[in-house]
Amino acid sequence: MGPDVSSQRCRIVVTRLLPEPVTRRIAATCESWVNYEDRPMCAQSIGAAAEKIGADVLLVTATDRIDKAVIGRLPDSVRSIATLSVGYEHIDIEAARQRGIAVLRTPDVLNDAVAEMAILLMLGAARRAHEGMRLIYEGRWQGWSPTLLLGRDVTGGRIGIFGMGGIGRTVAQRARGGFDMEVHYHNRRRLPADLEQGAIYHETVQDFLAVSDFLVLCAPSTPQTKGFLNAQNLSRLPAGAIVVNVGRGDLVDDDALVAALKSGAVAAAGLDVFNNEPAIHPAYRELPNVFIQPHLGSSTLGTRTRMGELLLDSVEALRAGEAVANRLV
Ligand code: DGY
Repeated sequence: MGPDVSSQRCRIVVTRLLPEPVTRRIAATCESWVNYEDRPMCAQSIGAAAEKIGADVLLVTATDRIDKAVIGRLPDSVRSIATLSVGYEHIDIEAARQRGIAVLRTPDVLNDAVAEMAILLMLGAARRAHEGMRLIYEGRWQGWSPTLLLGRDVTGGRIGIFGMGGIGRTVAQRARGGFDMEVHYHNRRRLPADLEQGAIYHETVQDFLAVSDFLVLCAPSTPQTKGFLNAQNLSRLPAGAIVVNVGRGDLVDDDALVAALKSGAVAAAGLDVFNNEPAIHPAYRELPNVFIQPHLGSSTLGTRTRMGELLLDSVEALRAGEAVANRLV
């Protein structure tokens, strides 16, 4: 029999600064190495930190690239990798599985916060919030006029949700309940009626995009979803559609979206996630019809605290030999 790790304090490497309640719990319950510099760590430093404290847990974020090489170099003490994110494209799950390392993530606890961001972006894009703010900040506002920055009605519109997991379903609820929107969706599989809540499923991308006046991308980054919003799929949207992305940047072909925003084929975009963050496509900073946020979807104190708490609860449960629902492998 191996040592009874559940009776020892957890040794944890934390790669970014976390909200105070989570940091306090880690300090009270674990031996920790924390990256107080709070800059993304390179593979070597993550391995070195794990080595230094004989870590059994790595608490990482979407800014850490935990690829096969990183996993291969981790000391044998590491039993789990817990990521403060619902997305896990930054972790080589197969490499972790092969080394018998559990991978934990944070589904569901961030659905409300990310859905709020999707609604903010949809409203901001449709109501030309960026242009309105610039008018004021740049001292160019001449006063009220009946035709100033006419936007688009959201209430009663048709929303198309790409990816109907927890976040997508929460966006659907808010769109339906808050704005009387007709909800359409495309997903790997049709949902059961109790989860669908009246949303209209489209099996083909073509049919789905044709009705998506407000297209909201909520899907994770997978080999199947990467590059989804390319020139061809953009051309399938209704003229003057609004595009929102709270999923992942790589769902979008930036050059194609920028071209559609410049031509007016897409009236406006609300974007919270990007290819190559933080070095985003420069046109997104310049185009007036882009309403933009720096990947803040789950960034509320309550949500980020719940994400951290969920990971720590799951680590404790795993150490006690219990099954946890947010375990990927
Ligand atoms: C997530 O949870 O995946 C967010 O995008 C933060 O990385």
